[in-house]
Amino acid sequence: MSLSIPEITLNDGMTIPSIGFGTYKLNGSDGAATISSAINIGYRLIDTAYNYENEGTVGEAVRRSSVPRQDLRITSKLPGRYHSYQKAVTTIQESLYRANLDYYDLYLIHWPNPKQDVYVEAWQALIDAKKWGLIRSIGVCNFLPEHLERLEKETGVKPSINQIELHPFFNQEEQRKWHEQHGIVTESWSPLARANDVFRNETLRKIADNHSKTVSQIILRWHYQLGAVSIPKSSSPERQLENISIFDFSLDDDEMNIILQLTRADGRLKNQDPAVYEEF
Ligand SMILES: NC(=O)c1ccc[n+]([C@@H]2O[C@H](COP(=O)([O-])OP(=O)(O)OC[C@H]3O[C@@H](n4cnc5c(N)ncnc54)[C@H](OP(=O)(O)O)[C@@H]3O)[C@@H](O)[C@H]2O)c1
Repeated sequence: MSLSIPEITLNDGMTIPSIGFGTYKLNGSDGAATISSAINIGYRLIDTAYNYENEGTVGEAVRRSSVPRQDLRITSKLPGRYHSYQKAVTTIQESLYRANLDYYDLYLIHWPNPKQDVYVEAWQALIDAKKWGLIRSIGVCNFLPEHLERLEKETGVKPSINQIELHPFFNQEEQRKWHEQHGIVTESWSPLARANDVFRNETLRKIADNHSKTVSQIILRWHYQLGAVSIPKSSSPERQLENISIFDFSLDDDEMNIILQLTRADGRLKNQDPAVYEEF
């Protein structure tokens, strides 16, 4: 079975589906079976990271799939401990060896770690790896506007994507607008807020009932209408299908605004403010 998913064109011309699949905590043979199921159901954008220690699992699911490699978009990410130029180049190569892939479609800097102040070197390594054909499109995660501005100012190259925490309790309005003004696509991590209280929220439940959809479908449709690419993770084939079945209805402006009002200044899941939080 496969579903038709609208595509988005990045500022470097590469296209990606407007919804993808998160793989955090999907490892080993169970993980490979889960990711294979997602690909069979119709997901074409798969999100992994060096630090998830499952690039090999993702690569295995890619090899098991009958979907041609050029129809998939595989993303991985550079960890904070390898930001210096030479370490970043070696890590990108290691990421490819782990997945047994010839190239990644997207490679992102995982966190800016601004106190270390080495992310511009990491960015130069991504720029060069793209020139060498190891990566098709380069982007970042968790970068604030000041970090994004520095990348462009110091290297002349703008990221295609910024993957940020985004869900109804933390809607990132200003950051999303900034991306839009600068031609950077917003990608939402933990788009379902890791299935916490969001699924018990009365407002979302009512909107879901009005559309005869699930709360998860309402949230993912909301991301789509915001113009953000979401990457929900699910270990269940039923929920994988549910999450991707969001293209046969739409939310009106009132519903979009009601969901936007659920945001809270302290709505981050784990208080990971990229201005101060670091991950290695
Ligand atoms: N760049 C970064 O710094 C960063 C940080 C965090 C995450 N990420 C990426 O973003 C991806 C998604 O985020 P996430 O995994 O943190 O959280 P998420 O996708 O918001 O939520 C995943 C949770 O929701 C549950 N779930 C999924 N679909 C559901 C449905 N239809 N109904 C009820 N529950 C449902 C899943 O349970 P089941 O598995 O049991 O269905 C799982 O517990 C990650 O996997 C990772 O690839 C990136």
